[in-house]
Amino acid sequence: MNIIVCFDRLDPAPWVQGLQAALPGAHVASWAPGAPPADHAIVWAPPQAFIDEQAGLKTLFNIGAGVDALLQLRLPPTLKVVRLDDAGMSVQMAEYVCHAVIRHFREFDGYDADVKTGRWSYRKPRNRADFPVGVMGLGVLGERVARALQVFEFPVNGYSRSPKQIDGVRCFAGAEQLGDFLQASRILVNLMPLTPETENILNQASLSKLQAGGYLINVARGRHLVEEDLIALLDSGHLAGAMLDVFRTEPLPAGHPFWQHPKITVTPHTSARTLRDESIAQIAGKILALQRGEPIRGEVDHQRGY
Ligand code: NAP
Ligand code: GLV
Repeated sequence: MNIIVCFDRLDPAPWVQGLQAALPGAHVASWAPGAPPADHAIVWAPPQAFIDEQAGLKTLFNIGAGVDALLQLRLPPTLKVVRLDDAGMSVQMAEYVCHAVIRHFREFDGYDADVKTGRWSYRKPRNRADFPVGVMGLGVLGERVARALQVFEFPVNGYSRSPKQIDGVRCFAGAEQLGDFLQASRILVNLMPLTPETENILNQASLSKLQAGGYLINVARGRHLVEEDLIALLDSGHLAGAMLDVFRTEPLPAGHPFWQHPKITVTPHTSARTLRDESIAQIAGKILALQRGEPIRGEVDHQRGY
């Protein structure tokens, strides 16, 4: 069995070594044009030339949860695309989102600013019931985030394409319930995949449905958000702030208004990192399962886009 690794900007060497150790019966190599045909590929944003050349591939394992960049390529419709299925990401995402929600709710940025000027300030405690959190996307990451937020007793709403039942979460589903979901939420967490249906879904019309003093946490993809609409809603005061981890252009370009906006906190696409050892173990396990003819989790539906 031949396995090939093809990454955009990441060093493939430790992945090749790790996969080789996990699958001693296989031959693992990193891709260069003209490489021999492989059965399975481990990829992140590979070039179209890789796909065209490796026409005999059975499986593409993506080393991230989001497959939007991969599905931009011309892929044979029968090629199995497999996303990373948690592999240590959901706990990181829960940490990031709980941090962002608590930081906003408890006004820690305000205290920080006061401390920097030597002020021992007092702020009236806020009522948790006034800060319902809406989690958009209740998949591998969104469901974990929704459960984690309940530990801190925030009211939690959830939104997905198909109906869901999650203990303690008020669930909404489908485009017809999006308005009700937004109106029931003050803090919005975006954890949907980027697809033609969800691109630009965070815009003037949707964000202005959030309760007054709303707060946006975007941890999915930059192209979900219409950036100028966010800035207008922050400047008008309808939204109180935003914590953004993902951007239409990454790295966020120098001079972009998000860098200096007083109501925006920027992080460099770091909310849930791919953990190499966990990911190698998961992918190697799936390759062995496929060899035994067993079903695996995380297969992407090309039509649905996630
Ligand atoms: P997932 O398991 O595929 O879950 C996606 C969720 O979104 C599902 O609940 C799905 O509904 C819902 N959804 C999809 N299209 C929808 C639509 N049109 N309307 C309403 N709901 C819709 O994905 P995941 O593993 O949780 O990851 C989510 C995204 O997070 C990834 O695609 C990636 O872009 C992003 N991400 C970011 C980072 C980071 O570091 N910033 C790290 C990892 C992932 P159904 O349940 O009904 O299918
Ligand atoms: C990261 O953004 C991922 O999709 O895993």
